[in-house]
Amino acid sequence: MRILIINGPNINMLGIRERDIYGTQTYDDLVDFCKDAAKELGVEVTFFQSNHEGAIVDAIQDAYGKFDGFVINPAAYTHTSVAILDALKAVSVPTVEVHLSDVSTRDDFRQISYIRSYCVATVMGKGFEGYKEAMKILIDGKDTHGE
Ligand code: DQA
Repeated sequence: MRILIINGPNINMLGIRERDIYGTQTYDDLVDFCKDAAKELGVEVTFFQSNHEGAIVDAIQDAYGKFDGFVINPAAYTHTSVAILDALKAVSVPTVEVHLSDVSTRDDFRQISYIRSYCVATVMGKGFEGYKEAMKILIDGKDTHGE
């Protein structure tokens, strides 16, 4: 199973940005964590991070036919991007939405997720572990948002 892990804006600033919320570990630490988790779970992982909405749309389109699942943390674009939702719908790859923090307890503007309606599941507030849980959901083929 081939999984693409997509991270949006400012996830490259982990370890520096708002450490009280996102912790002290870096984006490279996240990549290492996910590589170890993928090895343990027996899946192949590829990583993409961008601060640009269009670049994320391009990456999703480029992934068409190449991956069996996406783990995506669109970061701030979660709350604004119809374009990322449409790209996900276009390529039709099972996708799990991940957030490091528990967005449900944060600002009002973080309560909207444009991609959630498309995703098979959402994992939030579990830090790096959330990415591993997302991979497991894809492996098990669970659809917790569906019927
Ligand atoms: C985030 C939550 C978003 O609201 C925020 O804009 C981020 C990170 C998270 O992982 O908790 O940049 O997606």
